[in-house]
Amino acid sequence: MQFFLDTGNIDEIKQALDWGILDGVTTNPTLISKTGRSFMEVAKEIVKLVDGPVSLETVSLNAEGMIKEGRMLAELGDNVVVKIPMTPEGVKAIQVLESDGIPVNVTLIFSPAQALIAAKAGATFVSPFIGRIDDVSGEGMKLIREVKTIFDNYDIDTEIIVASVRHPMHVVEAALIGADICTMPFEVMKKLFNHPLTDKGLEQFLKDWEKVPGRPF
Ligand code: E4P
Repeated sequence: MQFFLDTGNIDEIKQALDWGILDGVTTNPTLISKTGRSFMEVAKEIVKLVDGPVSLETVSLNAEGMIKEGRMLAELGDNVVVKIPMTPEGVKAIQVLESDGIPVNVTLIFSPAQALIAAKAGATFVSPFIGRIDDVSGEGMKLIREVKTIFDNYDIDTEIIVASVRHPMHVVEAALIGADICTMPFEVMKKLFNHPLTDKGLEQFLKDWEKVPGRPF
């Protein structure tokens, strides 16, 4: 499974790149607004820093506007993926952008039917939002299982980006289901490394190492 960071924060992206486990980045207007920086400045920097796909979101509500914005965003780099919301206008825009050769990530997916429509329109990626479903007492992961089954049933090659991830178990469950990608906040990525028994074990090994005679280092 590929790991994407869901962020507009350059320091977080640099840290994940340094770890060598970053495959791509997703952003949205909320994440960009948190940086307090100009959209174009942040977008250009991320696109340059990251080799993998970088999703940048359109904000128009009609297909014409989405297509115009999408084409403009795509000029920032070959790795730009245009994020389009799951609406009827969005579905029209997906087809035009994909036929231009611009990959689209369809965002705000909350049902298997929406994922199926996005895939039929030729989207490269779909982003089902699991945390927001959990937030309203639903079962976000059920959506991932259903979308995965539908895509497998019809050999659909649209990739599933598990989005709105809240904790490490979301990542693990997404991997067990076989989702292609998980996009996660930096805090979740950091937590994936942790286990108290690793810390305890390391502490003991280092303590015992001090008792070993003839230590070469
Ligand atoms: C996906 O691409 C979205 O940016 C994101 O995962 C939304 O997550 P949230 O529900 O934590 O805002």
